Amino acid sequence: MTDETAGAPQDRAVLTTRQGHPVFDNQNQRTIGSRGPATLENYHFMEKLAHFDRERIPERVVHARGATAFGYFEATGKLGDEPIARFTRAKLFQEAGKRTELAIRFSTVAGGRDSSELARDPRGFAVKFYTEDGNWDLVGNNLAVFFIRDAIKFPDFIHSQKPDPVSFERQVANRVFDFISQSPESLHMVTLVFSPRGLPSSYRTMQGFGVNTYKWVNAAGETKLVKYHWIPKLGVKSLTADQAAELQGTELGTHTRDLYEAIERGDHPEWELKVQLMDDNDHPELDFDPLDDTKVWPENEFPLHTIGKMVLDRVPKNFFAESEQIAFGTGVLVDGLDFSDDKMLVGRTFSYSDTQRYRVGPNYLQLPVNQAKGTQVRTNQRDGQMAFYVDDAGANPHVNYEPSITGGLAESADPGPREQGPVINARLTRQRIERTDDYTQAGQRYLLSEQWERDDLVTNLVGQLSQCDRPIQERMVWHLFMCEDELGRRVGDGLGISADDVRGLAPLATQTLTDAELERAANLG
Ligand code: HEM
Repeated sequence: MTDETAGAPQDRAVLTTRQGHPVFDNQNQRTIGSRGPATLENYHFMEKLAHFDRERIPERVVHARGATAFGYFEATGKLGDEPIARFTRAKLFQEAGKRTELAIRFSTVAGGRDSSELARDPRGFAVKFYTEDGNWDLVGNNLAVFFIRDAIKFPDFIHSQKPDPVSFERQVANRVFDFISQSPESLHMVTLVFSPRGLPSSYRTMQGFGVNTYKWVNAAGETKLVKYHWIPKLGVKSLTADQAAELQGTELGTHTRDLYEAIERGDHPEWELKVQLMDDNDHPELDFDPLDDTKVWPENEFPLHTIGKMVLDRVPKNFFAESEQIAFGTGVLVDGLDFSDDKMLVGRTFSYSDTQRYRVGPNYLQLPVNQAKGTQVRTNQRDGQMAFYVDDAGANPHVNYEPSITGGLAESADPGPREQGPVINARLTRQRIERTDDYTQAGQRYLLSEQWERDDLVTNLVGQLSQCDRPIQERMVWHLFMCEDELGRRVGDGLGISADDVRGLAPLATQTLTDAELERAANLG
């Protein structure tokens, strides 16, 4: 409690309206006589209710439940034994010990703003670096891969995760597995979400991943493909479904409370930032496409290199201002970092700023939590709802256009970096990528799990699939056999479905199976 709010009322700061008028009576509206009727010129009363009526902005269409914290990134300046400049010219990474302020928002995906933080769901892991070259957002999750590989499927995928649009029935297993059973690229993610890793014990004990493939660019314009990994100092810890259900019985916001209490007692959470690099080409020697976000890059072939650490040391001063209104996007990159042709990334890059102009408003980048901090913003963007200042317009604020011989802002005299990247010669098309391989990494994931993790995955899948229609169950068991016999057999046993029952199913019309996969399908089990 501060001095201003303590003590007798006459010693405290005086309540005012937003017009700056002192409020003499905040308990009684203005009425004719003590029993009313009320008058319309009740300015303070009308303003108070009208503002309250507008207190909520639309919640995020996904990742509505979340919590923001603040801290810094500290670079190592190196990649292995080499200066990092060999691989990227991004300024925040260059010098050992260099610190960059950052904000992070952790979230669940499917539930609404007040939903449980203990739902089985991927967790969002979105970091905003306030660099000297402007903001860089790395918007990822805790599970390394994703359910789909083409952004055009995202609205359908999310609809399948949400309640029934007619009845608002929240038991969504049939919807979820209906979509997944027809979208086998989801299987790798399924082996993660339904394993213990789908229920992190806290935000402080989970990994983070950029998931999509990006590029790094060095001073010579040479590029590398890159994937980002955040490794928590506290290790990765998960809950079983029973533990989560018990905790959820008494509290829905355990993850936010755990995070904020740790920061406030000085127990500052820390993650190492590591990267995997690949030469910038399509790698025909691999049995997967490096731009496919349903795949991980094997760490024995593409080792992890530490490039810095993140420390979180501040909680928001106000949850709405800094957590509801913070806005991340995959298009927000700085010099030295670039996009790849990952077909999810392009859709995401359109979607984030589009939704934020709707959700927060067209001037969302003027809000303190979203403003670039390490550099001066100067634009010719003007007006729009809630514009509350004019971006620095240089010496002649009358000229809000460019080019001009009378003043105003000018393009940088520096010609800037040359555009790099491949020369593309291909026919316009709508096609799946060639190397889909929806099953190998999902099967490997199962085989690499410890026994208790395998058991947990099977229990969770059987529990969810038991609520599904028989044709969905059969198709899922077929896919799980395609991933790994033991997984298919154990889930099938739980549902009363054998390999014989599903062997005759034809591959989905939307799949292009390799000869080896076709042979496997013919001999399932
Ligand atoms: C939030 C779209 C895929 C991670 C959002 C939001 C949208 C969106 C519209 C709400 C943003 C806001 O209201 O501020 C999409 C689309 C995708 C996609 C169209 C696929 C094409 C992914 C993937 C990941 C991811 C693959 C993880 C790697 C996140 C995170 C947030 C988010 C972490 C929450 C950001 C925050 O905390 O404010 N996404 N998303 N999304 N998305 Fe995606």
